[in-house]
Amino acid sequence: MQQLKVIAPGRINLLGEHLDYNQGVVLPAAINRFFEFEFKGNTTDCIHIEALDLNESWEFDLHELKKLKTTGWKSYVKGVFILMGLSSVNGLHICFKSNIPIGAGLSSSAALCCGLAFGLNEFFDLGKTRLELALLAQQTEHQYAGVKCGLMDQVACLFGEEAHLLAFDTLDHSIETFSLPLVGVQLFLIDSKVKHNLAASAYNERRSQLEEAWNLAQQIFVGIESWRSLKPFQFKALLSHLDAVSIKRLTYVLDEMSRVQKVQALAKQIAADLNDSSALNDSYQELGHLLNQTHDGLRDLYEVSCEEIDFLQCHLQQTPSILGARMMGGGFGGCLLVLAKANFDFHLLEAVFSAYQLCYRQNPSIEPIQLMGGVRAL
Ligand code: GLA
Repeated sequence: MQQLKVIAPGRINLLGEHLDYNQGVVLPAAINRFFEFEFKGNTTDCIHIEALDLNESWEFDLHELKKLKTTGWKSYVKGVFILMGLSSVNGLHICFKSNIPIGAGLSSSAALCCGLAFGLNEFFDLGKTRLELALLAQQTEHQYAGVKCGLMDQVACLFGEEAHLLAFDTLDHSIETFSLPLVGVQLFLIDSKVKHNLAASAYNERRSQLEEAWNLAQQIFVGIESWRSLKPFQFKALLSHLDAVSIKRLTYVLDEMSRVQKVQALAKQIAADLNDSSALNDSYQELGHLLNQTHDGLRDLYEVSCEEIDFLQCHLQQTPSILGARMMGGGFGGCLLVLAKANFDFHLLEAVFSAYQLCYRQNPSIEPIQLMGGVRAL
């Protein structure tokens, strides 16, 4: 009987937050937190799926699937099966488990959809490309989870490369890989352990605010290609047509686009300066500064942070040997991405974590990161 094992990673994003549905370039990477799937053919005519961590299972007949009401992980499974266009298959048993914390902003849902889609594609030899699978996984989120997400998470999950970050251009879908040598510094995550449930609605709202602004920009500046080609004088002219909230949102997007360019240049600079410790030091300081600036923008202009995350970020900024920190992912909870000196003593965070625990009744955790390859069959 045919059998297949697949792993599908979660992701971090160095910079370019909320740019993947705003015509930007984003800088994600797949990480060593992943889903593991096992696909096995059987002689029944049903699909049987087991979510091992949740101790839940689900059996369905593919012909009935469209009619079935689902919630949680089953909605993603339903979406992937329908969008893959499988109309009849022999019996199939799938089980999966994951070590990606749910709701931590590490794209566990994208990893679930991409891993499942990739596995079905291999198992039934459907011939879809990785980009097609990414788009299908994104559509699953749009249609079956109601989140109008961009394509960054799916691309990171499917195209990630070991020890590399991706520069994903969301306008033309081109992907470049680059490395960010970490000499004397480290990147890690702090999981705030909070997740506010307005995340999906606030996310969709941000998206439509920017889409409206873009429609307006296109009417005023006929022929304009993207936000990236908006000239400063055009931005000024546009301001009088936008409400105060849209101005904040757009200001964040344009600022973040320019920070992404700076980080791309810094990564090249760092690779060229590997033997010059003083130049390296300056570059890492600058990188930390950019992370902090992104956080400020996400908090004050894009307004997708939350009190708990801001509490941590504010204290991290004041902690010696921490060069920068920012919320990461969709927002309203989840993880912070932190750049610190390599010799940073994690015990220095104990007091901050205790204060956080007292205020918010949650125990944050430190999560090391390693960059790994994208979805693959084992
Ligand atoms: C979520 C979405 C992504 C992206 C990030 C913010 O993770 O799924 O598409 O928009 O938020 O950068």
